[in-house]
Amino acid sequence: MSANDGLTVAILGPGGIGGLLAALLSRSGHRVICLAGDETAKTLRTTGLHVRSGMFGDFTAEVEADTELREPVDACLIAVKATHLDAALTRVPPGTLGDALVVPFLNGVEHPASLRARYRPDRVAPAVIRAESTRVAPGEIEHATPFAEVDLSGDPVPDERLDALAKALGEAGITTRVLPDEAAALWAKMSFLAPFALLTTRHALPLGDVRTHHREELTSLVEETAAVSRACGGPADPAGALARYDGFPHGMKSSMQRDAEAGRPLELDAIGGALLRAAERHGVPVPVTARVVGELRASGH
Ligand SMILES: NC(=O)c1ccc[n+]([C@@H]2O[C@H](COP(=O)([O-])OP(=O)(O)OC[C@H]3O[C@@H](n4cnc5c(N)ncnc54)[C@H](OP(=O)(O)O)[C@@H]3O)[C@@H](O)[C@H]2O)c1
Repeated sequence: MSANDGLTVAILGPGGIGGLLAALLSRSGHRVICLAGDETAKTLRTTGLHVRSGMFGDFTAEVEADTELREPVDACLIAVKATHLDAALTRVPPGTLGDALVVPFLNGVEHPASLRARYRPDRVAPAVIRAESTRVAPGEIEHATPFAEVDLSGDPVPDERLDALAKALGEAGITTRVLPDEAAALWAKMSFLAPFALLTTRHALPLGDVRTHHREELTSLVEETAAVSRACGGPADPAGALARYDGFPHGMKSSMQRDAEAGRPLELDAIGGALLRAAERHGVPVPVTARVVGELRASGH
């Protein structure tokens, strides 16, 4: 880290989440290097990142952009979809990273282990982000929610490294907490996300219709996911999860559902597949989740 606390941050995958983080960090004075494919890198170098956000305002941020990491950085934030992770990581050679934190923002629970197999395990600091942000075109980011919250964790990572990144994110406008228990942080998000993503996608219906017309199935998924979460050291609050779903707008859609609508590959294995594998490992019965994931797979996802 440089003397004035300005960080050099690489962002792998400057899409909905990565682009928002890159633009906010750049706006607050940090050096940002976006890592992307040729075309996107060229666009970012020429026109910067444009953000439209009710919360953060509409602004353009200058960023550096490259197709590969070529120098050490303080942190490398990873914001590609799970389906692109392996291909994208070839842009981040372990030897170049130096002592950098590796901070994945992906949904799911299995990617930290793959990252630790590839990079320094005690520098991998998984983050969870609550926000809705969309890459409408390369370099064009629409942030829709009136909030953007990050939970940063990393059991073997030195506290001061987590605190320094949390400070930078916080000063950039993102409400950031450092949480002491990585499994709890990841499973808290998974417990909320998995039933919502799987059922809105399975039925091609917004949350409002799922919670009324498929209530029993939703309740089963929430209970099964909570049981797996508990077995994995995460929280288990099925009643709380259902109450949260009931509080959201009727038309709310999951990003998995949006991916299905657009014909993009789904993060089905990272969410549904990971849930089933964890259930199997811990001997937790999840019959309804297994059926729904099976139906999604059978329909070509
Ligand atoms: N979006 C949300 O609101 C949200 C909220 C919470 C969690 N998440 C999670 O955050 C993760 C990222 O989601 P997202 O919605 O931000 O995805 P996204 O908008 O699709 O952005 C992914 C970015 O990755 C880039 N990319 C793909 N393959 C690459 C490669 N081989 N090398 C370099 N870059 C590559 C894409 O580049 P191009 O621009 O060139 O296509 C794109 O900019 C997912 O795990 C998602 O579940 C998302």
